[in-house]
Amino acid sequence: MTSAYQKMTDAELDAALADLERQAADLRALDLRLDMARGKPSPEQTALSKPMLDLLTSASDLSDQGVDADNYGAPDGLPSARALAAELLGVDPANVSVIGSSSLNLMYDCVENGYVHGIAGERPWCQQGTVKFLCPAPGYDRHFTVTESFGIENVPVPMREDGPDMDVVREYVEKDAQVKGIWCVPKYANPTGVTYSDEVVCAFAALRPAAPDFRIYWDNAYAVHTFRGEGDELLNIFDVLSEQGKKNLVYEFASTAKVTFPSSGMAWVTASPDDMAELRRSFSAMRVSPEKISQLAHVRFLRDADGVREHMRRHAEIVAPRFALVQEKLSAGLADLDVATWTDPNGGYFVSFEGPEGSAKAIVALTAELGVKLTGAGAPWPYGSDPRDTNIRIAPTYPTLEELGQALDVFVVAVKLVAARLAKAERA
Ligand SMILES: Cc1ncc(COP(=O)(O)O)c(C=O)c1O
Repeated sequence: MTSAYQKMTDAELDAALADLERQAADLRALDLRLDMARGKPSPEQTALSKPMLDLLTSASDLSDQGVDADNYGAPDGLPSARALAAELLGVDPANVSVIGSSSLNLMYDCVENGYVHGIAGERPWCQQGTVKFLCPAPGYDRHFTVTESFGIENVPVPMREDGPDMDVVREYVEKDAQVKGIWCVPKYANPTGVTYSDEVVCAFAALRPAAPDFRIYWDNAYAVHTFRGEGDELLNIFDVLSEQGKKNLVYEFASTAKVTFPSSGMAWVTASPDDMAELRRSFSAMRVSPEKISQLAHVRFLRDADGVREHMRRHAEIVAPRFALVQEKLSAGLADLDVATWTDPNGGYFVSFEGPEGSAKAIVALTAELGVKLTGAGAPWPYGSDPRDTNIRIAPTYPTLEELGQALDVFVVAVKLVAARLAKAERA
């Protein structure tokens, strides 16, 4: 893509640069302090779940289908919580463990299980020498941090518009027994917003891993987070696996982090009966039983999948205008300049922005200098290293609409200025 700045004469480019430097100086003088960095729900969104706090009192019946929420027991979580979690993912409650408030925590526990104890009777990874995980990139930085923290080698895999490049995935998974896992966010992926196509889901289910202890880490964090229209449909990978007569390939995770309260919700994992039996053995050494009072409040508040969908419609009313504003501001500011592309998802928490080659770090730094914090450039890549330095993750949910508008105005000026500076540098 040749940018409008690259097409300008020297005099036109100098004039554009001077104008943009002036705009940047004006913005700097405003001394803004805005944050578009992390994908957090806004206070308006978390307020939607505050009535949940009124549902349990000292007078409440704390039992759920014969299980006492206020005591030890039910290591896989309350029956109603397992039923809700299973209904949301379309799986059998018998294969679900609802544990803790963070799905990332459960992912860490599963990786740790492979590292310390081993999976499916294989030696623990800590005794196997080099171990690798595939990381579709751009992806979720915290996934990559989990495996990096164990010294596992994170291998980037290209993300396409319908999911990871499955030719690359197949080549690694089926030929290299050091590859033990792949991180996936199959619906409204962080940060691209991509939902994996049926073809990609089927290709995942059809994998014949070289390593018996290879698993797909299917993080369905945004399963119910549609904010536009009917949303995207994701094939149920467990249905595809059973159609193909396969098992023991997928660990699926989800949580209510961005349904109710981040870090005070409920999180769960589901897998095949064999895999769940193995994970349960590992989990049972970690805790007697999970925190169930919060689970009880959640099921009394959300009730069932329809209740969750209704609640998510209220989230959508708050979130959709923010995502629309991102599209409006980026289109108005950048569409004619051929400097960037960006995603326009139907759900999730992010817009993924691609600037000119070699621009992302400079744009994030300049935006910060002008008072707007963004996710660090490169963060969505293993080891923080975006090979082309083009990708920036925009997280529009937390700021107010007014703040978001200001932040995007700053971002647009920063993108233009960096693109113009790059065009100038090319001519030097
Ligand atoms: C893809 C993805 N998975 C997991 C999480 C964290 O979920 P939890 O709070 O349940 O650990 C996030 C949070 O941003 C996320 O984007």
